[in-house]
Amino acid sequence: MKTEEMVAKFKEVFGAGGDIRVYFAPGRVNLIGEHTDYNGGHVFPCALTLGTYGVVRKSMDHNLRFYSLNFEDRGILESSIDELKPDPELFWANYPKGVLWAFDEKGMRVDYGFDLLIWGNIPNGSGLSSSASLEVLTGTLLKDLYGFDVENEGIALLCQRSENHYNGMNCGIMDQFASAMGKKDHAIFLDTATLEYEYAPVKLRDQKIVVTNSRVKHSLVDSAYNDRRRECETALKELKKAMRIKTLGELTEEEFDSIQDAIPDAVRRKRAKHAVYENRRTIRAVEALKKNDLAAFGRLMNESHISLRDDYEVSCEEIDCLVETAWRVDGVLGSRITGGGFGGCTVSIVENAAVEEFERKVLEEYKIRFNREGEVYVVDIGGGPERIV
Ligand code: GLA
Repeated sequence: MKTEEMVAKFKEVFGAGGDIRVYFAPGRVNLIGEHTDYNGGHVFPCALTLGTYGVVRKSMDHNLRFYSLNFEDRGILESSIDELKPDPELFWANYPKGVLWAFDEKGMRVDYGFDLLIWGNIPNGSGLSSSASLEVLTGTLLKDLYGFDVENEGIALLCQRSENHYNGMNCGIMDQFASAMGKKDHAIFLDTATLEYEYAPVKLRDQKIVVTNSRVKHSLVDSAYNDRRRECETALKELKKAMRIKTLGELTEEEFDSIQDAIPDAVRRKRAKHAVYENRRTIRAVEALKKNDLAAFGRLMNESHISLRDDYEVSCEEIDCLVETAWRVDGVLGSRITGGGFGGCTVSIVENAAVEEFERKVLEEYKIRFNREGEVYVVDIGGGPERIV
């Protein structure tokens, strides 16, 4: 949708006049480093050109009014800056309100409310961080509209805090960081233990980053996510008896192998193994990319998938079908599940010449096996949040 159309829609819903501004914040795809961000490990996501747009105007009172062009049936959702508490009746608007709450908690209090209309082109529930992009959009517009002194990194942390404590999802920092700190044609190599990061150019001349959406989202997502976190925390406590460490991300594979017996439970051992090995794979993948060794990068992506499937157990049969079919297509360098898991999307690196064949084969096989229509998008790496108008 064009900016002018969004603004016209805003005027239709909330009335014309005043200082109307437009902002954008991107979604993300994670190339490698999955379920490492709450284990003190590394991640390697990039921002997408897909994301969430917001048209906004400060109001003259304490009212907050929200309208989404993706959920028009919900109509205008109304609230107030004086009630910063989660409210099931507000549906998606709990995300922007959560960010308001997180800013408020840090002393960045708004004096007036606002009207906000949003439109996003990230498929909902696809695991491409539509919620993080909505949060970062809100942080960005709050900073600009109310003149708050906060950097993008600070916005990412406040957005994560709002998701953890206002919206009850115990996520790590990856998604909000990738959205707030995105850089065109670069992926972000982030050490989640220290928040040190480096931008790595992703110069793909002969390949494309291809995202395949399974369009399934199994309902256990949030509960299983929190279970995995707990399993890793317990495993870390157990390993601490054998070695002085603060996080799983500090361990090399060899160190882990030598002390893994300190974790008595076999399932928990597998979870911790994934966290340790995935972190090392991520470091190696970035080294491979720097040497322009995309074949090695792709192999590490494949290993990542196998580990997420067998040791971390966050894949599902639909996603395995998409990935395994992709592996059989000539010209696919690597393919894996991306994001939290249990559905959502896969990410693949595919030779330009093989993209068509990829799309045909993967979607055909998926349709045959599950009688479902998947979706394939060739994505571009975009920049961070911005004011457009
Ligand atoms: C979700 C979370 C992230 C991260 C990934 C798994 O996207 O929001 O913090 O843990 O899952 O890598």
